[in-house]
Amino acid sequence: MKKIVVLTGAGISAESGISTFRDSNGLWKKYRFEELASPGAWARNPELVLEFYNMRRKQLFEVKPNAAHYALVELESKYDVQIITQNVDDLHERAGSKNVLHLHGELKKVRSTVDSGLVYELDHWELKLGDKCEKGSQLRPHIVWFGEAVPMIGSAAEIASTADIVIVIGTSMVVYPAAGLIGYAKSDIPKYYVDPKASHFGGVSNLTVIEKKAGSGVPELVRQLLEG
Ligand code: OAD
Repeated sequence: MKKIVVLTGAGISAESGISTFRDSNGLWKKYRFEELASPGAWARNPELVLEFYNMRRKQLFEVKPNAAHYALVELESKYDVQIITQNVDDLHERAGSKNVLHLHGELKKVRSTVDSGLVYELDHWELKLGDKCEKGSQLRPHIVWFGEAVPMIGSAAEIASTADIVIVIGTSMVVYPAAGLIGYAKSDIPKYYVDPKASHFGGVSNLTVIEKKAGSGVPELVRQLLEG
């Protein structure tokens, strides 16, 4: 079975109703990430940080996977599919994808501030100041903030290096180290990039650009790969 590695970003969830970060209506156009998604922000104003992630978690309970998430599940009938996502939503899992690696953490998980190994699944949207881990420390969102290490990057790079085909969907490819993952893929394998503003991707060999929204571009590409 050939292995397809799929790198996804906020764009794949846009048609489910989740905002991207850098589009004109994106989250980082409305908010300053230094004030919401960094260790400094957490130290200065944990209540504000919790509120930001609570708002996004609440929304996650209200949205659904879209045609692009579901199309990637169909791909599993013919390929060994590994998804590496920068997204903190769980829409790939809810669509039914089997292998999903979250590079930047998961919105529905929280963790201890004294022991990063203590990770808990949250079955409701609100994390409050005063909610504690079993060791008595405040719980924080299980998110990789700006300035923090990306623990899964080594595994992700290894996976990318074993791909027979790479598909990149809905990411501006500006946040490192995630954006560097494509560089680990073999240069001679086919690579596809589905994004309505795909212009920001240069210097990648064997790249086919599909300038479409994920909801139409991904099902079309999947059909082509299943028929080919
Ligand atoms: P960005 O907001 O930087 O980029 C979103 C991409 O999605 C852009 O290239 C858009 O053109 C594209 N897009 C918009 N609508 C789309 C659609 N319907 N179908 C397909 N593509 C569409 O989001 P990311 O690249 O995911 O990190 O951002 C990377 C990281 O920066 C995030 O994981 C987050 C953020 O700060 C953390 O929070 C740690």
